[in-house]
Amino acid sequence: MESPRFVVVGGGPAAAAAARRIAEAGEPVALLTVEQVAPYDRTALSKDALLDPTAEVPGLWPPGATWRDDVFVRTRTPVAAIDPDAGTLTTDDGTMWAYERLVLATGAEPRRLAVTGAEGPGVHHLRDTADASALSGALTSGARLVVVGGGVIGLEVAAAAVHRGLDVEVVEAGPRVLGRGVPAPVALWLTALHTRHGVRVRTGVAPQEVVRAPDGSVTGVHLSDDTLLPADLVVVGIGVDPRTALAEDAGLAVDDGVVVDLAMRTSHPAVLAAGDGVRMVPPAGGRGVRLESFTAAGRQGEVAADTALGLEAAFTDAPWSWSDQYDATMQSAGVPPTEAEEVLVGGPEAPLVLSLEHGRLVGACGVSIGPGIARPVRAAGRAIEAGARVDLDALRAAGGDLPALARVLRDAAG
Ligand code: NAI
Repeated sequence: MESPRFVVVGGGPAAAAAARRIAEAGEPVALLTVEQVAPYDRTALSKDALLDPTAEVPGLWPPGATWRDDVFVRTRTPVAAIDPDAGTLTTDDGTMWAYERLVLATGAEPRRLAVTGAEGPGVHHLRDTADASALSGALTSGARLVVVGGGVIGLEVAAAAVHRGLDVEVVEAGPRVLGRGVPAPVALWLTALHTRHGVRVRTGVAPQEVVRAPDGSVTGVHLSDDTLLPADLVVVGIGVDPRTALAEDAGLAVDDGVVVDLAMRTSHPAVLAAGDGVRMVPPAGGRGVRLESFTAAGRQGEVAADTALGLEAAFTDAPWSWSDQYDATMQSAGVPPTEAEEVLVGGPEAPLVLSLEHGRLVGACGVSIGPGIARPVRAAGRAIEAGARVDLDALRAAGGDLPALARVLRDAAG
């Protein structure tokens, strides 16, 4: 039995950040990942890795950092079971590891499309490097691609596929694209951008079958309204489910995500958890939130590591995320509750929607051609963290000017 004091399970940004933080504190740590490579930047998979198949997917750890010597990375190492009371885990080859503190960062799994023909060649999902290279290899100029799901994966893949010369149609079951967390003015602006690039966007319909030729190749997608869309390949981006089986089998509290508090403590004192696979419940209670954000995952990993090291830590950030499509960037900060009031302050060139709850800023989401939207959204993120109220008259007076909006929001943050 090997026995580092700290073990991290996972290979994404939460796992990488947790292992790094522990190693930087001078403690040896083992990172066990099911993937074939050490943690890398998954956000590149739906962008650069598809736009340029020769692009290297960046690693999450700077080469040459001295703390890396304290991280023992074990790739291709699925963890089969954990026993929190005993402080042990077992990998699928039967090796047992003891730990004092365990950080679970097992992430999330792409949902599968549950219709006839959806499993097999020509139907792609996108979560890891193997998925990205398979998809990239299939993006042949002139081919007809049906993207199922108008979420961030679907729209980023659509933009990359257009760049690679494919004919693209997006099929979204909801009434508009980006229904999860993106305000309507921003989602509609992006829909118009895709339309200008030749992508057809259908809403309110879902596939009822992926149609295949006798040789098994994809020939079309049969929709719920009986339309038959011809297709040579299909990408499915219909959301993710948290990977919770390990935690559940170990008896930890799970509720669509491993349940953690703001210090990333699970229901067992020796086990922390972080990333897309956790549901974070604040001290006030309620169901909490499951964040699907690269930056939030990394920060949660750091908090889990600090807690594991016996330090006081809590996740209090306004989660920030971005999506690049064509030459546009969409950015958002915060996790506004659905009942928050939405106020549109950006102009038609770059809509920016602020979400307010009892007059306090709780969310911001906007989009622009080029990086202009980044400054006001970053400033909004700081204002959200400060629990600030915003001066709507001053924001409206900015008339959609992004640097002016950023100044007003910076002032609000104090
Ligand atoms: P998503 O939740 O963003 O979007 C899924 C979309 O699929 C929704 O609009 C939903 O209405 C639609 N849908 C569900 N079932 C459907 C069906 N049967 N037919 C048609 N449409 C259907 O999830 P997505 O895009 O798959 O992304 C997966 C994960 O990857 C998320 O955690 C996301 O945050 C992450 N990601 C983030 C990026 C970013 O922030 N830039 C980029 C790429 C991925």
